[in-house]
Amino acid sequence: MKLLLTVVKRIHKAPLCNAPRCLSSVARSSGPANSGLLPFRDEELIVGSSPELVKRLSSQVEVRTEFISEEEEGALMRELEPGLRKKRYEFDHWDDAIHGYRETERVTWGAACEGVLSRVRSVAFAEDSPLLGPVHILDLDKAGYIKPHIDSVKFCGSTIAGLSLLSDSIMRLVKEGATNEWLDLLLPRRSLYILRDQARYDFTHEILKDEESLFHGQKVPRQRRISVICRNLPA
Ligand code: OGA
Ligand code: MN
Repeated sequence: MKLLLTVVKRIHKAPLCNAPRCLSSVARSSGPANSGLLPFRDEELIVGSSPELVKRLSSQVEVRTEFISEEEEGALMRELEPGLRKKRYEFDHWDDAIHGYRETERVTWGAACEGVLSRVRSVAFAEDSPLLGPVHILDLDKAGYIKPHIDSVKFCGSTIAGLSLLSDSIMRLVKEGATNEWLDLLLPRRSLYILRDQARYDFTHEILKDEESLFHGQKVPRQRRISVICRNLPA
């Protein structure tokens, strides 16, 4: 089976948007070990072009900090790393939606990981929503990034839920056809994000490269980052 991402990038080669300027002001200094960030409350993890837009999308864009524990992150890494290590990061395809990545997908998991995934599913999806069987794993190199795109509406449904492993990062949402409307999401390591409905269909999403990775004017260093992404099927 073709990896989902191949499908995603072929169908939605979204135009590159002009990067909106980040808000600047609140200076945050160093924080907990291995994250460099002070703990943010969930509602502080989303900033946008206007308070109205942040409010309007608040039921469609969620970030939950510390959704998984360090032990659970370790269990996921132990399952994923051996397979990922056999692949090489792809850098050279100028037309890809993603730069500096390797990817895989997984249907069956060990007990610890299955527990994590069923928690993700239970918070992100309605009980009767049919899910895409395989979970998508995307491993971004430290120098890797995801360009603005919209996931294929043919292959993926209304909801995208992703765990972030190994690194903090910034996800940017930009309204298609109105690039002055945007949100920046701080995705702390071990957090879960959920995009639904308009936020998923009408806004491109991207993961910023290290050089552009700022939140409230504060650098959010990008390390190697692995995302574990669950999606539902189109209705
Ligand atoms: C994708 C995507 C986001 C992430 O694979 O389509 O947007 O968190 N991934 O890795
Ligand atoms: Mn995507």
